[in-house]
Amino acid sequence: MHTTQVFAVNRQPTDCLEVRETDLEAPPAGHARVRVEAAGVSYGDVLFQRGVVPGGPKAPYTPGCDLVGVVESLGAGVTGLEVGQRVAALVVSGGYATAINLPAARLVPVPEGVDPIGVAAVSLNYFIAHQMLHRVAKVTSGQRILVHGASGGVGLAFLQLAEHIGGVTVFGTASAANLPLLRRHGAVAIDYRHEDFANIVRGTADEGSQLNATTAYHRNGTVDAAFDAVGGPHFWRSYSVLARGGRLVAYGQNDVLRDGRRNMAIGAVGFLGGLVLPKLRPDGRRTGFYNAWSLEKSQPHAYREDLAQVLNLLAADKIAPREISTLPLAQAPEALARAERGITGKLVLDCR
Ligand SMILES: NC(=O)c1ccc[n+]([C@@H]2O[C@H](COP(=O)([O-])OP(=O)(O)OC[C@H]3O[C@@H](n4cnc5c(N)ncnc54)[C@H](OP(=O)(O)O)[C@@H]3O)[C@@H](O)[C@H]2O)c1
Repeated sequence: MHTTQVFAVNRQPTDCLEVRETDLEAPPAGHARVRVEAAGVSYGDVLFQRGVVPGGPKAPYTPGCDLVGVVESLGAGVTGLEVGQRVAALVVSGGYATAINLPAARLVPVPEGVDPIGVAAVSLNYFIAHQMLHRVAKVTSGQRILVHGASGGVGLAFLQLAEHIGGVTVFGTASAANLPLLRRHGAVAIDYRHEDFANIVRGTADEGSQLNATTAYHRNGTVDAAFDAVGGPHFWRSYSVLARGGRLVAYGQNDVLRDGRRNMAIGAVGFLGGLVLPKLRPDGRRTGFYNAWSLEKSQPHAYREDLAQVLNLLAADKIAPREISTLPLAQAPEALARAERGITGKLVLDCR
C-alpha cells in the first residue's frame, strides 16, 4: 500500500526531516494496518530527534509517539478489532505517517463520535499524567503535589486530572503570562522565572510575595509528590520539598536542550544528583524516572486500561485539551520547529 512517511534522518536542528513516499506491506500476523488520521506533536519528539534521550530511536526513523486512525486491514489471528473501527495507540515512533502496521494489542478503540484531532491532542499527555498520578505517585484527596511546567501540554493534564481526584492542593509553576490559567484550574500558581517554588511550598516566601497570603498556612510545608520534566539540578530542588514518604517523579530533562544546544552533562547531573544520590539517603523519600513505557512489564494491563480511561474522559467532556492547532503531515518540519520554540496548547498533525 502506498504510504507517506516522515523520516528523521539526522540530529541537526534544521533539515532533519524528510517526507518520503513508501510502500507498506500487508500487516503481519497479530498486527493491523491503521490509516492514520492524526498524530500528536510534542517536545519529546524534538528531544528524540536530537538524540538526547538515552535509548531513543536512531535515525532514520519516523517520529510521532501518539496516533489515531481507522483500521484498514487485519493480519492473521487478530480478534477483537474490526476493519473501519477508529483506534488510538501510543508508540515509541511511527506516528508521522499516513499508514502504519501495529501489533493489534496496542490499538485501543476510540469511543463513538469523538473527533480524531481531539484524540491525538490528549492521548500521550493525559495518559502519562494519569499514570504518574494514579499508578506511580498514587495521589489521593488531601495530599499536596508540585507540578512543574503546569501550563504545558502534560502540565495542564496534571491539573485537570488532579481536579477529578478532588481535595488535592496543587502547586504549579509557569511563566507569569500563564499563571491565570493555572489559577483557573485551582492551582497555587508560581512564576518560575521570578519566584522560588521551594520557598513557596515551604511557606517561607518573602513578605512581599503575592503568594504569601496563600502559603502562610503552610509553614515548613512539603509535598507528597513532585512531577518534574525540567531536569538537571532542578530534580534535586524538587526532591528537597518532598514530605517523608513523598515521591519525586521525573519524566523529562528539558534542560538538556537549551537554546538549541545539547548539554548531556546537565542530564548526568539530573540522574546522579537528583535521582540516584537521594536513593542512598535513608530519609523515606523516593525518586524515579517515569516514561510512557515504564509500566508495561510490571503492569501489562495498564496501557490499555489507562488509554481507554483517558479516551472515555474525553468522550464525556471531562477533560479538555487547550488550544489545539493543526498542520498537514507534509508540514512536519514546521511542526517540529514549532515544538522546539514552544507550543501554546497542543499541536497535531492532520494526516488525512
Ligand atoms: N516520559 C515520557 O514518557 C514523556 C512523554 C511525553 C512527554 N514527556 C516530557 O514532558 C515534558 C513536557 O512536555 P510538554 O509537551 O507538556 O511540553 P510543553 O507543552 O512545551 O510544556 C512545557 C512547559 O514547561 C514550562 N517550563 C519551561 N521551563 C520551565 C522551568 N524551568 N520551570 C518550570 N516550567 C518550565 C513552560 O511553561 P511556560 O510556557 O509557562 O514558560 C512550558 O509550557 C517534556 O520534557 C517531554 O519530553 C515525557
